[in-house]
Order: sequence, then structure tokens, then C-alpha cells
Amino acid sequence: MEKYLEQTKQQGFCIVENIFPSFYVDMINKSIDNYLLESHDGIVYEKNTSIVRAIHGLHLFDPFFMELAKTNFLLDFAREYLSDDIYIHQYKINMKAAMDGQSWPWHQDYVYWKEGDYIESPRLINIAVALDDIPMLSGPLCFIPGSHRFGDLTKNNDLVAGDWSKDVSANLTYQIDKKVLTPLIENHGYEFVVCKAGDLIIFDPQLAHSSSNNLSPFERRLLLVNYNAVSNAPTKKSKRPAFLSSVDFSPLSNNPCKSKDDQHVMEVNEND
Ligand code: SIN
Ligand code: MN
Repeated sequence: MEKYLEQTKQQGFCIVENIFPSFYVDMINKSIDNYLLESHDGIVYEKNTSIVRAIHGLHLFDPFFMELAKTNFLLDFAREYLSDDIYIHQYKINMKAAMDGQSWPWHQDYVYWKEGDYIESPRLINIAVALDDIPMLSGPLCFIPGSHRFGDLTKNNDLVAGDWSKDVSANLTYQIDKKVLTPLIENHGYEFVVCKAGDLIIFDPQLAHSSSNNLSPFERRLLLVNYNAVSNAPTKKSKRPAFLSSVDFSPLSNNPCKSKDDQHVMEVNEND
């Protein structure tokens, strides 16, 4: 755990390999397929298509997804990183469908939560679970190491906030523009996160990131849980719906039966 905390503090992200075994990843994927059989608020589509781009707020509708976010390793990491009790601010699955899934342009996450949801400080953390193998062809996440240290990289842009649906589209509201991105990449480079199903990708909400279209014939599903420190909960009501911005700030607690439930999680060596 220490190693991953340190990497996330230093470079803004880390990869924890092989956390969920394949039977459990299969179970998650089947639960998503079942979830999509019914209509729910928070499902968004690729522009002008019926292809699902992302599903938001699943933990509000289905206890299976809530339990997943309470897996010990995820909770412990988020609590340690934020030095506080935590709650789920946002929960989503980016579907990035085979051949048809569209890009996420360069952006940081926190600006959406500050401008849209009135969260005062970037004391949040993203923990993503790869639900498919993610090779280069599938449009993996791409990070600029260390960019989480530079504050809001969009603050000089002339951006007008729109309807919430723009915040989750391939034409994102708050993008990092070319003149800011150029020196960042020249000085810090970039790193594609190719990984395997069951791996975790943990990243700070100020980290600059993007991902391109899925050019492969395989799905690229990524489940993302965003935890906020309880002491950083907003004091003003969000402009956005609850499936994008939680209204329940009560601290998550480990389920008392959790050690049994956590049999679906591979052991993380404490010395790692
Ligand atoms: C992606 O799923 O590739 C983008 C995730 C994000 O922007 O947080
Ligand atoms: Mn993002």
C-alpha cells in the first residue's frame, strides 16, 4: 500500500496489478449487461447513436455496485490518501465500445467538481478498475506524470459551462488547450496505461489525462469510483443531477463481513 500511495503522491497515479480475479471481473461485466436491460438515469450515449458511452451513479440503483466500491483495498487506499473518512462523490463506467467508443480529450477532473458541484478543494481520488484488457489499440488512459501539481490548467481558457451532458461527452466542457499542453508534454512526457482486466488505475483528480477512440474490435470498459474526503463535502447544492454528484456525504464503512466478501480481491502484499 505504501508504495502505491507514494507513487500517487509523486507522479499523480499508480497501477496496482491483478487486484480482481477474472471470475469477479466477469461478474461485474454481467451485472453491467443486466443493468443495461432496464432504463436508468445516468446512461449516456455516443453522439447521435444508441451506443452507450457511459453509465453514471450505478451505486445508487444497485447494491452490487455499491459493495464493489467498499472493497477493503479501495477504501483503505482512499482513506489513507485523503487522510479522512470518505464518501463516493461519483461512480461511473466508461464503456468505450469496440470500434465505436469515442475519445476523452485532454482534461483534469477536479474543475468539473469545483465548478459544477461546489467542492472546495481537490482532496478527492479516482480508483478505476479495468474490466477488459486494455492494449494500445483500445484507447487506454494517457497521463502526464506530475501534472497534478500545477493546479487548474484550464483557468485561463474562455470556457462557458453548459448543460451537464456536455461534461460527459466527447466534446468536454473544460479541456486543456494546445498552448498549455505543449510545454507540459515537452517537460513531463506522457504515459499510456496499458493494463489487464482486474488491474486498478489510481489517479489524482488534478492529473492531466486523455484517451483516444477505441480502434480495436474489443470492448474497453473502465469502472471509475471517485471518493471525496468527508470534510471536503460541498456546502452548496450541485447544479448537476445526483448520479453525477452525490448528495449522500455519510462516511463509507467497511462491511463487517468484508473479509469474507474480499475473497474476490487478490491479496496485496503489504511490502509492495
Ligand atoms: C477514459 O475512460 O478513458 C476517460 C476517463 C476519465 O476521463 O476520467
Ligand atoms: Mn477524467
